Amino acid sequence: MEIDKEFNKGYILMLLSRIKREGMQGLINFIEKETDYFDAPASTRYHLSCPGGLAQHHRNVYDFFKDRCKEFNLGLSKDSIIIVSLLHDICKCGLYQKTNYSYKCDNIIKNQGHAKRSIELLTKYIKLTAEEEAIIKYHMGTFGVFDYNDIEIGEYKIIDIHKSIKRYASVQIFAACDMGSSKFEKCFDNK
Ligand SMILES: [Fe+2]
Repeated sequence: MEIDKEFNKGYILMLLSRIKREGMQGLINFIEKETDYFDAPASTRYHLSCPGGLAQHHRNVYDFFKDRCKEFNLGLSKDSIIIVSLLHDICKCGLYQKTNYSYKCDNIIKNQGHAKRSIELLTKYIKLTAEEEAIIKYHMGTFGVFDYNDIEIGEYKIIDIHKSIKRYASVQIFAACDMGSSKFEKCFDNK
């Protein structure tokens, strides 16, 4: 997959700047000036492990999820779709350090959690609706229960995600879009 970092930056900043929510400009400034959001990879080796991969992944999830929201009439606002799609993995900013051949995780940042860290970073600047918070919190699906749930991280329990999905279908659909995007991205990585 060819990544156009400059295009992605302009496109993502344009979408975020459309959102009229208190604190949004502060969040945009933080992303632009204090993080590697537009240069970071999406993972160490699983999908889009290349410069600009994180922003590209967010864009891919946005495209997938926006269409599903329409198709299934989920009732989410345009702002909510933009926020959850483009910011759910903001926790990955600063997480990956370049090595000679690929990337490795910064363990101090890793131990701050995944979705949990995204929510902490975002809510320093903006308020999330209950549904946005649920979508971001549970976007790893059952991986958040079985793969991230060690003592330091402690993302959530299986009963929590079950209750959330019963309340918001968007939680499960978003998690599927996130996984679908990463599978689609992996196909390109292998070529
Ligand atoms: Fe993601």
